Amino acid sequence: MASISAGFGNLLDMFTYPLRHSHYLELVNPLWTQHVLKARVVGVWDDTADTRTLTLRPGRGWRSHRPGQFVRLGVPIDGMRHTRTYSISSAPARTDGCITVTIKAIKGGRVSQHLARRVKVGDYLPLGEPQGEFVLPDSMPVHPLFITAGSGITPVMSMLRGYVMEYEVLPDIAHMHYAPHALDVIFGAELRKLEAGQPHYRLHPFYTRGGGGDAHFSAKQLELACPDWREREVWACGPASLLDALEAHWARAGLSRQLHVERFRAKLAATPAAGAKGRVLFAVSQVAAASDGSTNLLRVAEDAGLNPAHGCRMGICHGCDTKLVSGCVRDLRTGALINEPGDTVQVCVCAAVGDAELAL
Ligand code: FES
Repeated sequence: MASISAGFGNLLDMFTYPLRHSHYLELVNPLWTQHVLKARVVGVWDDTADTRTLTLRPGRGWRSHRPGQFVRLGVPIDGMRHTRTYSISSAPARTDGCITVTIKAIKGGRVSQHLARRVKVGDYLPLGEPQGEFVLPDSMPVHPLFITAGSGITPVMSMLRGYVMEYEVLPDIAHMHYAPHALDVIFGAELRKLEAGQPHYRLHPFYTRGGGGDAHFSAKQLELACPDWREREVWACGPASLLDALEAHWARAGLSRQLHVERFRAKLAATPAAGAKGRVLFAVSQVAAASDGSTNLLRVAEDAGLNPAHGCRMGICHGCDTKLVSGCVRDLRTGALINEPGDTVQVCVCAAVGDAELAL
């Protein structure tokens, strides 16, 4: 059946060339398009003073996500296309076919401010496929430990909601969550309701400001909240300082394999201080720009007035991949050099080393 419909679509495309018939369907209903996946905003909900959940109805071609995965959202602002990735906060297989993403408005963050303050019901946003490896195994882990902070709760909320939807009764789960104050806890009411109604779910909130004492992660705190942490698989999401502390702690215990982390930003290696400045030529656009040897090439291109395709801006989605034409670039996460013409360059996490030319 699918191949008959694809064949019919190809036939229609012959009459609508150079556009595709999907472009005309888009004028009737943007969710019917096939050349680009879109979602309609069908609900907005303010979770906290600076966090908003958007309920999205994906169009044709959407496939369900696994709890913990993220999506790329296209955000048109003043004629410029921006893209960002957000964890899906809803359970898969919602009966209404919708998903939710929960966005924290970052101070000075143009895209997050736009999504969390100005996007409204009825808007359409380009949407990517669900991606990411921060997921639970197919067989249910016996007793996970979740460690989250701030908006790092969002992928874990999808996991908790997915558990409830699938099994109704949660397994033995310990959950340490960090927020500045009680009112800043995203999904706070839902988490407290889970704790009250689910006998095996234990929530340990920590307030990092105004609670007296230092409530940031420590070994002692972990022992008190979750004495059997060595026997648990851990899923952790939050700011780099927390995840770095967790990685160090689990490494010291020789248990790094049990720790799964999801970062908001790529973890970068130290960049050599001198000798890397140069000139970057974006060959397709015929635009040249100066490079200081440490600024990522996506930023260099944007500062030069280009608008390259991108997604996560942290090296995981491959939405910014391009080819090296000549010269040398450095992967800022590992320090590895890429200098073979034709090699793939993720411009969001690579910087030029001296002069470089890219197929952008
Ligand atoms: S934008 Fe996602 S890998 Fe570069």
